[in-house]
Amino acid sequence: MTSPATRTRTQVGIVGAGPAGLLLSRLLALRGIDSVVVEARSRAYCEARQRAGLLEDGTVRLLRAAGLAGRLDREGLEHGGIYLQFDGERHHIDFRDLAEGRTVTVYAQTEIVKDLIAERTAAGAALHFEVAGTEVADLDTDRPLLRYTDSGGVAHEVECDVIAGCDGFHGICRPAVPDGVLSTVERAYPFAWLGILADVPPSTDELIYCRHDDGFALHSMRTPEVSRIYLQVPADEDIANWPDDRIWAEMQRRFAVPGWELKEGSITEKSITPMRSFVAAPMRYGRLFLAGDAAHIVPPTGAKGLNLALADVAVLTDALAALVLDRDHALADDYSRACLNRVWRATHFSWWMTSMLHIAPDADAMEAQLQLSQLRYVAASRAAATTLAENYVGYPPLRCGTLG
Ligand code: FAD
Ligand code: PHB
Repeated sequence: MTSPATRTRTQVGIVGAGPAGLLLSRLLALRGIDSVVVEARSRAYCEARQRAGLLEDGTVRLLRAAGLAGRLDREGLEHGGIYLQFDGERHHIDFRDLAEGRTVTVYAQTEIVKDLIAERTAAGAALHFEVAGTEVADLDTDRPLLRYTDSGGVAHEVECDVIAGCDGFHGICRPAVPDGVLSTVERAYPFAWLGILADVPPSTDELIYCRHDDGFALHSMRTPEVSRIYLQVPADEDIANWPDDRIWAEMQRRFAVPGWELKEGSITEKSITPMRSFVAAPMRYGRLFLAGDAAHIVPPTGAKGLNLALADVAVLTDALAALVLDRDHALADDYSRACLNRVWRATHFSWWMTSMLHIAPDADAMEAQLQLSQLRYVAASRAAATTLAENYVGYPPLRCGTLG
């Protein structure tokens, strides 16, 4: 016989301890709102999962306002632009000049997650790793339920005022919305990114986005000692086809420009990421609010995924504070619209960057010439470069609500 679930109550039940769920828990705590966060994976897994690395200036300000930027301010690498490479030439796009002094910061998602988990744990927050069987129910009532089994095998049922679905693209919250409520728009791209981490100082001061006839390449970094580099590969590529010497040889070929050297080092991590654009709307059903990858995915060209997830959470905090503390529904009712404006801008920008820089398997000479013409235009025209710069640093600039 199974014992009945342990029943508790919280104001906000949060599914997922990725960047979105963790930051939401912190921002709500700053407003005096309590939450329970449940996470399917272990703490060690969440802290080690290699993903994004580049923060918009609004994201940095948000983390600072939330009291989470101590290490980010010490260790983050501020970048005032990027390089665009095509036709064997490298061109600098200067964000400081083009986007009113705004910049971006290299600081890995792994580090943000570590900082958030450390803060949440020190604050004694309810943060449960390695849960199983997460379910959300009664979403169309004002007492939705969050059910899960903890790592010790004990079943829990948490009565909530609202539930935040921060459980990523493959989570359970979006599928819990009844059929016919959400409309989804999706595009899968016919290529993927092979990403590596290597113990070698970056060979560049700023990121290099490179279009090569054999495929896209991106030179990014994590720290002054660690490089992060990506190569376009076929969508169904097997990582076993890419021994380290083949990866370096391909990177040497794609990034080559006269007088510049790509330094090689030991590869400590490699994986392949599919590329997809996906938007589900509205980002809310009853008392369930979706945030981050649970509601939308962009291809990584342009580094928007993590920034969008944290921007959603900033908007959601204001909406939930009004709803839970003041019983004021106006911001909650506007949540999806407010987020989707930014989401669609980033979806367009990521699609545009992806289309301009990658080589599609069926691309013809017309496609190649159109890409090169667009790249030459961005490199030469202040108006075109400004479009890239203001989207890259984050558009519209994030307002951090009452956080300042
Ligand atoms: P996630 O980080 O996905 O967090 C969701 C959490 O929910 C996870 O911890 C998951 O374990 C948990 N969860 C799922 N189901 C359940 C359940 N049933 N019960 C409890 N918990 C659950 N963006 C960039 O900008 N640049 C990049 O280079 C880049 N690379 C990426 C590589 C990969 C492989 C992926 C998947 C994404 C990448 N992204 C990148 C996107 C970026 O990392 C995401 O946008 C960001 O992680 C979104 O944060 P999130 O909190 O919304 O979701
Ligand atoms: C990264 O550093 O992981 C990164 C940077 C820029 C991107 C995508 C990924 O556009």
